[in-house]
Amino acid sequence: MLLDSVLRSYQSPTRMVHAIGAIKALGEEVKALGVRRPLLVTDQGIVKAGLLDEALTPLRAAGLDPVSFAQVRANPAIALVDEGARLYQRERCDGLIGLGGGSSIDTAKGIGVVAVHGGSIVQYEWGKSPIHSRIPPLIAVPTTAGTGSEVTLWAVITDPERKIKFNVGGTPNIAAHVALVDPALSVNLPAAVTAGTGMDALTHAIECFTMAYHQPFTDAVALLGMEYCASWLRIAFSQAHNLEARYHMSLGAMLAGLAYGTDSAGAAHAMSQSAGGVHDAPHGALTGRLLAPVMEYNYAGEPERFARIARAIGEDVHGLSTWKAAERAVEAVYRLTEDVEIPSLEELGFSEGEIPMLAEKAEADSQTIGNPRDVDAGNYRKIYARAFEAGRRRGQAAHPDGRLASTPEASRVAQ
Ligand SMILES: [Fe+2]
Repeated sequence: MLLDSVLRSYQSPTRMVHAIGAIKALGEEVKALGVRRPLLVTDQGIVKAGLLDEALTPLRAAGLDPVSFAQVRANPAIALVDEGARLYQRERCDGLIGLGGGSSIDTAKGIGVVAVHGGSIVQYEWGKSPIHSRIPPLIAVPTTAGTGSEVTLWAVITDPERKIKFNVGGTPNIAAHVALVDPALSVNLPAAVTAGTGMDALTHAIECFTMAYHQPFTDAVALLGMEYCASWLRIAFSQAHNLEARYHMSLGAMLAGLAYGTDSAGAAHAMSQSAGGVHDAPHGALTGRLLAPVMEYNYAGEPERFARIARAIGEDVHGLSTWKAAERAVEAVYRLTEDVEIPSLEELGFSEGEIPMLAEKAEADSQTIGNPRDVDAGNYRKIYARAFEAGRRRGQAAHPDGRLASTPEASRVAQ
């Protein structure tokens, strides 16, 4: 229970528009913002999947003159954002559309920051130059159900030189003006992408619900976000074209994004963001692989909140003590991780020899602050060891006997 006197607030400047088939309204939404020549920021996967055409059709039908920038790569780097900002100026664009996963939407946000403030996106790393002005009108159109970037106040950019990812934002000035959520855009996602992005969304909800900065509004959206994600991820993973599953995952990811508030997440994101700067691993799968070990470490800090998570994600905790119910939340997330076949850390490009370095980087990440249990590099080493160990048992039941501390490693990380 938060009983301190720190002023908390919640602000979202984003109009949220959603429906199966909502993409058809893109032209009218852009027009309503007074934009005539939007820069459409996306990636080649979206082009090949035919989704760029699906977006261009309503734009042209509305008499708009869009410019496409389809060069986004996963974990967008500083140079990419700066290149997009130069194109924005050169083409005399007057608004932005981010079409794709979090990488495209974050790139569009970054382009907006540089277009208005000048210089390079690296100058606007959180804590450095302030983002004092609103970015140009931005419509975020997610094609995955994961980052929630369409409604967050953050963009995550990679610095290849420092081998880190850094956050830009923490202010409504960077948020999208409109989040246009069309669950039908995600029906062709490969199962592995569905799994990774869905676990990322679940992580946002769980971490934001348990972090030090939570407040009643973010609690409320986090709980429904985790309910949707935990209930529907296995189905979306198993049936790509199941629109009901896609609908709940898309809306669940948006709710989990809203749970961010103006603050950050916790240890799983401190680890995945810092590790994601070391190896070019997909953010969702990496975060998903780390979530359960982090929960296993954290639940001792906020047992009542973890017990509440267990109920939200569908565990029967009737008659259980708070501690037992909290353990159920951890076990359920371990099972989900395996059921949707999240890769091991080795498969994501990491080796156990890197644990000390990864632990140091996680400790230095700003999202360590606010984690529900005190955590330092030594603790991070244990959590990483547990995550490697859990990944190695891929294909086996993580907890065949149904108990949390079924291995010596699990016992150690929980202590
Ligand atoms: Fe994330």
